[in-house]
Amino acid sequence: MKKIFKKKLFRVNSKLRIYIYIIAFFLSLVFIAIIYQSHKNRVLINNIKHNPIQVYYKIDDLLYDFLTDSSITKFVNNKTSFNKLAYIPSNLEYISSDYVTDSKWNSRLREEANIALQDMAKDFYDVFWVKMQVVSAYRSYDYQVGIKSRWCSDLLCAKAWFSEHQTGLAVDLWETTTKDEFLSKSNLLKYFNWMKKNAYKYGFHNTYQKWLSIDWYLVEPWHWRYLWFDLASELHNTNKTFAEYYYINK
Ligand code: DAL
Ligand code: ZN
Repeated sequence: MKKIFKKKLFRVNSKLRIYIYIIAFFLSLVFIAIIYQSHKNRVLINNIKHNPIQVYYKIDDLLYDFLTDSSITKFVNNKTSFNKLAYIPSNLEYISSDYVTDSKWNSRLREEANIALQDMAKDFYDVFWVKMQVVSAYRSYDYQVGIKSRWCSDLLCAKAWFSEHQTGLAVDLWETTTKDEFLSKSNLLKYFNWMKKNAYKYGFHNTYQKWLSIDWYLVEPWHWRYLWFDLASELHNTNKTFAEYYYINK
């Protein structure tokens, strides 16, 4: 009698054990799913933190469109112009002075780039306790004609109709005219290193960093182009310039 009871108990126990294993298996699946989801959320929240407009705008359709004048990723260099000579972005706005100094220029940027610039300048301010200095932003076709009439070389200043500044998505930060002059100033070098490490998080890319044979212009540590988080981080992670990326993927 005792034996039969023990056997039964064992059978119940072994059945129970199997149930426990199955339940444990499913619980660990649920656990893994929760961890995975929370990791995904953390990545998303991180992206949103640096890209408030990524959620706000929802203009994925204009991403990776290198040809349309109004695309965030419109490509221009000294051989590739806008389609329309007098293209003017429709949502230009004045750069706010909260974290950026710009008083003498009254510079404008497209709204997307302006929001991202403010976001970046605020974090920059928290690190260095100085405002980011914008010396040039949106430049119309006519404005670029004016610059060229003052004999700025084609290696440094784009011909009118060919400048990234006409996109309303590019800014020049801090006043200098050569790479060596820029990088010889210790504060600018510090700022540049911060930008190199962080600007992509806000969607900005240093367009001219690999010289004439690749970027078609001299190196310009001051020139930053808004390209949206996705492409800016892709370029940052693969150490490519926009021109390199364009010629591989166009
Ligand atoms: N400095 C850049 C190339 C421009 O003028 O657009
Ligand atoms: Zn520039």
